[in-house]
Amino acid sequence: MTIFVTGGAGFIGANFIFYMLAAYPGCRIVCLDKLTYAGDLSTLEPVMNDADFRFVKTDICDRETVYELFAEEKPDIVVNFAAESHVDRSIDEPELFLRTNLLGTQVLMDACRRYGIRRYHQVSTDEVYGDLPLDRPDLFFTEESPIRTSSPYSASKAGADLMVMAYHRTYGLPVTISRCSNNYGPCQFPEKLIPLMITNALADKPLPVYGEGLNVRDWLYVEDHCRAIDLIIHKGRAGEIYNVGGNNERRNIDVVKLICRELGKPESLITYVEDRKGHDLRYAVDTTKIRTELGWLPETDFEEGIGKTIRWYLDNRCWWEAVISSDHINKNTAGL
Ligand code: NAD
Ligand code: TYD
Repeated sequence: MTIFVTGGAGFIGANFIFYMLAAYPGCRIVCLDKLTYAGDLSTLEPVMNDADFRFVKTDICDRETVYELFAEEKPDIVVNFAAESHVDRSIDEPELFLRTNLLGTQVLMDACRRYGIRRYHQVSTDEVYGDLPLDRPDLFFTEESPIRTSSPYSASKAGADLMVMAYHRTYGLPVTISRCSNNYGPCQFPEKLIPLMITNALADKPLPVYGEGLNVRDWLYVEDHCRAIDLIIHKGRAGEIYNVGGNNERRNIDVVKLICRELGKPESLITYVEDRKGHDLRYAVDTTKIRTELGWLPETDFEEGIGKTIRWYLDNRCWWEAVISSDHINKNTAGL
């Protein structure tokens, strides 16, 4: 069995590689990653010498190289994590998001059609459903909810989802899609809320909270997400979409205050800043389908998950100091 993991030098992809190599000894994992500012080889250092693992630096939009790799490795399964993933960056640079998130997905699926595949899995997001009002905690998005995106990021992910379903209907490609809520855990680039707040707090820097900090996100521990994808690629039905949520809704301000408490840092570090343009209010998904069909439930409660995450950032200061250094960012974004 050979699995292609694209975007595996990033946050969720790297955690998925660690999870799969531990869960399936003898299963070959080939990671395809462009190593943008968000991907770093040091993240994959623990598995680089594993005989079952191969890393290839490549852009998923590079059709020729992707085809060559399919011809050479003959993957059984492709799990596509590769993406531009940060909403704020998509507001500044929408085109890059369309290129990687939409066109890159198409190149991968064309390769799957050409060389044959058992399963193509698209890692999507609950953000494709748009947002919910703050005063209706009874509402949740199901897999049947309409696509109603807000940001260039979510629009590019939604476009890719539509393309994935089109390749299933038109060409019979055996696809699945997962739409997960906000992930947190080890190895997340410190631009997203939780790692940014942890690393800023550790450096006694201001903690920038958008607006009044009342927006709500549903936090999913990354290992629970990896387990869900493992179940979907092996037992999920082709042509189906599965929501994956943490059942862990929190207001941003409460998350930031909890991090301050856990680190023993003063709340006076919190700085309210201008709100994000088009800022989604609340995300929440109904996970009945994955629970009843595949028996998946999130296992990590937020207090436990945030404790483990903070511990990781305390123990891996060299990792995050290196990935956020401007040298690193300049090196990896040069020539985009
Ligand atoms: P990330 O930004 O940490 O990592 C993305 C990885 O993709 C990086 O290693 C980067 O180098 C690589 N990449 C980017 N463009 C590429 C290209 N053109 N070719 C090859 N590799 C490329 O992202 P993440 O947080 O790990 O998210 C992974 C996936 O999960 C994404 O598709 C994202 O949309 C989705 N998702 C993430 C979250 C979350 O909370 N992080 C929530 C829902 C969905
Ligand atoms: P983020 O981690 O960027 O994920 P997403 O926008 O995909 O949900 O942001 C999570 C929430 O935190 C979102 O409501 C925006 C907010 N936020 C801040 O208040 N300050 C910040 O510096 C960042 C990065 C996010």
